Amino acid sequence: MVARIITIAQQKGGAGKTTLAAQLAVSFKAKGNSVALVDIDPQGSLAAWHGARITTLGATGCGLHLSDVAGWRLATELDRLRDTHDIVVVDTPPHAETEAKAAIRAGDILLVPVQPSPMDLWATTATLELARKEQTNPLLVLNRMPPRGKLPELIEAKLRADELPIAKARIGNRTAFAASMMDGRGVLETNRRSRAAEEIQALTDEVMDHLA
Ligand SMILES: Nc1ncnc2c1ncn2[C@@H]1O[C@H](COP(=O)(O)OP(=O)(O)OP(=O)(O)O)[C@@H](O)[C@H]1O
Ligand SMILES: [Mg+2]
Repeated sequence: MVARIITIAQQKGGAGKTTLAAQLAVSFKAKGNSVALVDIDPQGSLAAWHGARITTLGATGCGLHLSDVAGWRLATELDRLRDTHDIVVVDTPPHAETEAKAAIRAGDILLVPVQPSPMDLWATTATLELARKEQTNPLLVLNRMPPRGKLPELIEAKLRADELPIAKARIGNRTAFAASMMDGRGVLETNRRSRAAEEIQALTDEVMDHLA
């Protein structure tokens, strides 16, 4: 077994890193993959979600492994998880310290959530610079996209003009994401036929294509 490592990073806080990490983990699991989660953010949101998941579904029903790792052991732990899982999802903090850089380096792909705001756009440059330094292919994921509007169009046009890799799958601004995570689940488990679930599935397929 040689796992593919999906690292999620964006220096802008609140861009949707943890939301994507949890939703994608559920989606990859639903496709029959064994999935491990690594939370290197001291805020511990992904770990908290995983804890809620165990409370709701029990240790066996949870179906996702959470690796509790910090500091210098990260690279070793990622190597170990590569041998024992199909997919490893790494959630990072909104600032680039040594550990986040190591996670980006180890990633087979770097997902960068971007909300349609100037602040997200500006922060993305720094995150992409990290991807370039660590030689990991980035994929921007437009998150919390309203159905229409001048600003999101403008932001998207700017990203395109800079020839940045943008996922075709867009993630809308939907309360179902947070609502599903409340008790440790994902939209594929709570709202299987929703637009939110379709969006996550489309993103999963696209990420798989990139990893193939
Ligand atoms: N597509 C979405 N639709 C609606 N709400 C969203 C969406 N994505 C994220 N959110 C909300 O935005 C907030 C921040 O999301 P999240 O915690 O995933 O971001 P983050 O990048 O992990 O933040 P941090 O930088 O603090 O780790 C949360 O309240 C979350 O529920
Ligand atoms: Mg987070």
